[in-house]
Amino acid sequence: MGDLVPAPWGGYLVTGYDACNQVLRGRHWLVPDFAWQDRQTETERWHAVATQEMSGTLSRLNAPEHTRQRHSLGNLFDRRTLQDMAPDIEADVTALLDRLAERIRVDGVADLSALVSERLPINTVGRWLDIAPEDYAHILEITHNQVHAQELLPSKSQLAISEEATLHLRRYFTDLVQGRRKNPGDDVVSGWIRTWDALESDREVTDRIVYQLTMFVTIASLETTATMLSTLVWSLLRSPGSWEGLRARPEHIDGAIEEALRYDPPIRLNSRVAGEDTEVAGVFVPKDTMVHVMYGAANHDPRRNPDPQVFDILRKGSHIAFGGGAHYCLGAGLAKLEARILLGQLLRRFPTLRAAAPPEYAPRMVFHRVTSLRVTA
Ligand code: HEM
Repeated sequence: MGDLVPAPWGGYLVTGYDACNQVLRGRHWLVPDFAWQDRQTETERWHAVATQEMSGTLSRLNAPEHTRQRHSLGNLFDRRTLQDMAPDIEADVTALLDRLAERIRVDGVADLSALVSERLPINTVGRWLDIAPEDYAHILEITHNQVHAQELLPSKSQLAISEEATLHLRRYFTDLVQGRRKNPGDDVVSGWIRTWDALESDREVTDRIVYQLTMFVTIASLETTATMLSTLVWSLLRSPGSWEGLRARPEHIDGAIEEALRYDPPIRLNSRVAGEDTEVAGVFVPKDTMVHVMYGAANHDPRRNPDPQVFDILRKGSHIAFGGGAHYCLGAGLAKLEARILLGQLLRRFPTLRAAAPPEYAPRMVFHRVTSLRVTA
């Protein structure tokens, strides 16, 4: 239908790989921040509590505040940090796969999504942020519910579910930051407090920013990674010979991860607004127009990835599953590390792994979520 397709509700869907990249990286393009939201006539969505709360976070800030906050975080997962995190992730994967094996032994089948994919990201990020393990279940529940407000056209009931989750998230992470302020340690959040105390004289401002960073990084890291892990395993199990092939040639594990991200990205689209009158793929786009960058469509653009519907771990293709430009995902390295460790152990320990049924998905449009992936061996 073209690189730029009018959306029935206004604005455009951007589908082509190059056009999507142009929007993500172009200096005429912004994220829909508070200033843009205030200029909209449709207030129900933009003024909703959950939308407003998200709009204060990194993903909805433009320069110069976005640059300042991003700079304060630095490279969250540099090579050294990932190296330090790897042994704990290895041990965690071993324990999670012990449980998977036991369940398969007893019941014949087990849900890889619930037992492994959902658990690994919260265990990893929870340990990194020094969050108490007994809180993980609560955090998972509220982060799953919060994302509805970020769907393409959230309904009233979706906004209400998100609002309740947002209030829980606010309470939980505000308390967490207050706790670290009272008892600082050598953990990540205490480090962010120290960084921001040096940048801002007002403690209230510092604590709000650290709350927003901590809450957002947590949300951004959980469902995305969980979906990627299940999708990766499912993509391999459904394509004949891939599992056995990868067992024989584990040096292609990284290629398999990239291909799964290309083929079936956990986040389907992201929105941007034109900061001034501009043009994309020959179409005039007036200032303030919202466009939706379709990550999945871009990854399946045959001009970039020939035969895009073929899942091929040797492809060496390109994808924008982690976005691009100033807002490029800060956790890409960590997500891939979790996938690499999980896949390595799964291949070694479950040579005959098979899907017992196709995965089940939550009824979502933007944030793809696998709710179940039953496997057997
Ligand atoms: C497979 C897993 C993941 C996927 C597919 C994913 C995808 C994305 C995408 C598409 C964006 C938006 C980029 C844009 O607007 O151009 C993003 C932003 C972000 N992600 Fe991820 N992500 C994943 C895992 C993680 C993890 C594990 C973390 C942290 C531990 C994380 C932290 C962030 C943050 C903080 C941002 C906001 C960056 C900004 O606005 O400057 N993500 N991610």
